[in-house]
Amino acid sequence: MDYMATEIVDIDRMPRGGPDASCVDRLLETDRLEYLDRDDVDEEKKRSVIRALEWTGEVFGNTERFARTVLDEVADVPDPKILELGAGHGALSRTLLEWHPSAELTVTDVELSSVQAMAAGELGEHPRATVREMDATAIDAAAGHFDLAVFVLSFHHLPPSLASQVIAEGTRVADKLLIIDLPRPPWPLHLIRLATMLPFAPWLPFVHDGVISSLRTYSPSALRALAAHADPSIDIELRGGLFSPQVAVVSRRPQSM
Ligand SMILES: C[S@@+](CC[C@H](N)C(=O)[O-])C[C@H]1O[C@@H](n2cnc3c(N)ncnc32)[C@H](O)[C@@H]1O
Repeated sequence: MDYMATEIVDIDRMPRGGPDASCVDRLLETDRLEYLDRDDVDEEKKRSVIRALEWTGEVFGNTERFARTVLDEVADVPDPKILELGAGHGALSRTLLEWHPSAELTVTDVELSSVQAMAAGELGEHPRATVREMDATAIDAAAGHFDLAVFVLSFHHLPPSLASQVIAEGTRVADKLLIIDLPRPPWPLHLIRLATMLPFAPWLPFVHDGVISSLRTYSPSALRALAAHADPSIDIELRGGLFSPQVAVVSRRPQSM
């Protein structure tokens, strides 16, 4: 049975597979950082990872798939205010602006070079877009300012205490926080996924980061525990997560009067 987030969890020591992770799953994680998260890595190497993410999102259809998921979440809001955290290259926000006639996008990343590159492109000129630096763990915005906050393929970058902080912050500034991330498959499938990537990891920075992402991504029970740690009154709805990306929609229950 899946973990129900009713027990108290020592969040800093929680495995990425969650409080109920199997012994093998607990071995399939790492404290190694992706190139994207390292200060000692050449900027051009990091930019190559970001460009590869943009390219794969376009070629494999994930950018459009994720844009549809985002728009479904704001389907009832006439002129939605959407915050994209960890936008990297900004392709998702560009698609949302193209598809929605009145959505306003605040497009952000913690990495200054990514923010500068996005601001220098189409997003920097768009009348309904604001591009700025922002840390998803400490969001510089008033409570309830956004209809939706979105964090795509980025949540696994953060250790549990900071990941939980993103849930607290995202649901403070927006009615809903949508997290889309790599799925964490059962360990036999996870081993196969790692085996297909590992031979290329020493040569291709994008695959190097992909292997680490795979080892750091959170399971459904981990996501529930992180949300409960952020605030026990937070609701989390999970979708996908086996062969498709893991989708989590997180929101605070309305306060009773
Ligand atoms: C793997 S990239 C994903 C980029 C893009 N969202 C995509 O789907 O391709 C992860 C992004 O998360 C950003 N990031 C990492 N920690 C962050 C934080 N604390 N706040 C905001 N962004 C963060 C990184 O700078 C990077 O751009």
